[in-house]
Amino acid sequence: MESKIMAILNPLSHAFGVDIGDRSFKLTQLIRRHNGYQLLAWGSIDVPEGVLDRGEIIDQEKAAALLAELVKSARGRLRGRAVVACLPEAKTFVKIIEIAKETTDDGLRRAVLTEIEQNIPLPQDEIYYDWQVLPDIRPKKPAERAATSAAAAEEKKDEESETAAKGEPGADEKPAAEPGAEEEAGPEPSTPSRPMTRVLLGAAPKSLVDSYTSMLEKAGLAPIALEIEAMAISRAIVPHDTAPEEAVGLLDIGATRSSLVIFDGGSVQMSISIPISGIEITRTVSSLLNVSMEDAEVLKRECGLDADRCEDKMWKILLPLIDDMTAKIRNALRFYRIGFPQGKKIEKLYLCGGGALFKEIDTVLSRKLTIKVRRGNPLINLTKKMPKAFRDEQPLTYATAIGLGLDATDENRQYRRSF
Ligand SMILES: Nc1ncnc2c1ncn2[C@@H]1O[C@H](COP(=O)(O)OP(=O)(O)OP(=O)(O)O)[C@@H](O)[C@H]1O
Ligand SMILES: [Mg+2]
Repeated sequence: MESKIMAILNPLSHAFGVDIGDRSFKLTQLIRRHNGYQLLAWGSIDVPEGVLDRGEIIDQEKAAALLAELVKSARGRLRGRAVVACLPEAKTFVKIIEIAKETTDDGLRRAVLTEIEQNIPLPQDEIYYDWQVLPDIRPKKPAERAATSAAAAEEKKDEESETAAKGEPGADEKPAAEPGAEEEAGPEPSTPSRPMTRVLLGAAPKSLVDSYTSMLEKAGLAPIALEIEAMAISRAIVPHDTAPEEAVGLLDIGATRSSLVIFDGGSVQMSISIPISGIEITRTVSSLLNVSMEDAEVLKRECGLDADRCEDKMWKILLPLIDDMTAKIRNALRFYRIGFPQGKKIEKLYLCGGGALFKEIDTVLSRKLTIKVRRGNPLINLTKKMPKAFRDEQPLTYATAIGLGLDATDENRQYRRSF
């Protein structure tokens, strides 16, 4: 009984998830029932230009006011004021590192700090970081690794000639490993005989975390954790019962940013920014067809990438953008396979974010990448029972918010601060 009263009085109970994007804020609140997680509340509010820019808060007051409005206008039964929010992919760092199994806590801390020093161009006292030791997964056998390297060398040869022919970005493009930058090289493969522990490391600039915290507090909210977006996306999209040996890619196509997440061995392995966004697609349509942004948005949604619609106009206009996106994804998938000690071939890619609603994007990417590309289902890890009014919403645009909401539910049980 006492704990129930404490839960009612405790301002940090009933936490919810808040997705902070450049052009929209979204929230979800879930509750754990005996048969799984159930959606209790949700909401979304558009954010005008000039409030956030590439994840950085430009106008604190306006952002806080919009957040407060989002909370006030939430649908369903929203309770409490404790929140788990996300940090932008491009400004954060996430990486799996491997250290010798017998390493002490102190040794682990030193390994984490060395990794940060090597990958993030900011002094250590300007960074918040957090890490988590991951469960063991079966390492690649030397024979598999040799086969992978041979296949990779073959692939590289093929791509180089393809790249030279098309004048596309080269095979040396690497996923981002530090805020806003691209990684120079992959981690060294571990010696197969030595028992290793995998550690998931997350880091973010203090200035970014502090500005998010202060914005949330200004909105009357109590941030209990800030999470890297890749974690939230994977929590929502990857089915809970996925086998640890399964490796999948997750592509979130948002209004202003897109990111590719590699999920393997039960955790996020890497995430990178992909230079395409919903607004950029609309802008391209608007300028090439000489129509307003509003009309371009309508055309984009109506025609999609379906070559049979709109006299294949849209298809032709958007092909260079899609080719560029495909090249970036292909390079990242190959980089993962070759550069990571446990790297596998990614056979399946799940799409989410509003851009995943683009007609035929799944088919087009499937054909170009020659892997299975499917729209993800952000409700996959929730109970089937949904509030009726949620039927009017597009769950794909709620992927990040649902992932954060799921984390917030667990957060109810224990106060934690990631950064
Ligand atoms: N049917 C559709 N076809 C194509 N694009 C669509 C469709 N519906 C929505 N979109 C696009 O989805 C984008 C919005 O997606 P989403 O809600 O995931 O973005 P966001 O989370 O607000 O942005 P970000 O993650 O960049 O901060 C818009 O650019 C919109 O044009
Ligand atoms: Mg988004």
